Amino acid sequence: MGKLLVIAFGTVSAVITTELIYQCFVWQRGKRKQRKLKHEEEGMITEVLFFPDKEVACKNHFISDRGCFNTKCRYSHAKTSLSELYRHLNTADKSLDVSIFCFTCFDLAEILIMKHKRGVKIRIMTDDEQVDSSGAQIWNLRKEGIPIRTDRSSYLMHHKFVIVDSRLLINGSFNWTRQAITGNQENLLITNDSYVVNEFRNEFEKLWKEFDPKIYAESE
Ligand SMILES: *[C@@H]1O[C@H](CO)[C@@H](O)[C@H](O)[C@H]1NC(C)=O
Ligand SMILES: *[C@@H]1O[C@H](CO)[C@@H](O)[C@H](O)[C@H]1NC(C)=O
Ligand SMILES: *[C@@H]1O[C@H](CO)[C@@H](O)[C@H](O)[C@H]1NC(C)=O
Ligand SMILES: [Zn+2]
Repeated sequence: MGKLLVIAFGTVSAVITTELIYQCFVWQRGKRKQRKLKHEEEGMITEVLFFPDKEVACKNHFISDRGCFNTKCRYSHAKTSLSELYRHLNTADKSLDVSIFCFTCFDLAEILIMKHKRGVKIRIMTDDEQVDSSGAQIWNLRKEGIPIRTDRSSYLMHHKFVIVDSRLLINGSFNWTRQAITGNQENLLITNDSYVVNEFRNEFEKLWKEFDPKIYAESE
């Protein structure tokens, strides 16, 4: 009799536990769904890009007002990860805050110079040891009058992010090099989530002040 009671009790509690776990799962799933819906309703921008691209995107086709006239163009007119990066950078009409470890890609430098000439306020932060590396576009940009600051330590300014008009963050492993476009496995996350964007803005402002050459001059 006692044994029977134990079995009955065991069965009932097992059923209850299973039911509880299941309800908990349903509740969690509901919450996830709600979050996703909220996300979509707010129309938040989120995009994830992966490299390498199979082909290099044609900058003229995606950026220039007149498009690409070259009938024998060797570059891709189809959407790629790089063309998406171009598109987002091209939406800037106030500012571009760029923090990049290694910058050798000519096309990306050209976009910044074009934006600079159109009155977009550009600031670039990079690693001091990378500035001198061969083919670095940094000198070209500096020549155009774009403000550039670097760290001054043996540690690396290893960030790779861009803030567009203080509202959109492009962040990832992506170096601005040809090798990173068509060779490496790289990722970029693009978001306008205001919390994340603000955190990166604050960090940029903090480092921008720290890397002010005037401050170095005082401490030397
Ligand atoms: C993010 O972008 C979407 C779509 O353009 C816009 O509706 C939303 O207001 C933006 N969010 C923020 C915080 O700027
Ligand atoms: C930014 O990108 C780096 C490199 O991929 C990654 O480690 C970091 O977590 C990213 N940050 C955010 C907020 O996505
Ligand atoms: C960025 O480029 C530099 C120089 O080419 C390289 O040493 C470094 O490993 C690269 N970083 C990433 C994350 O690809
Ligand atoms: Zn083209």
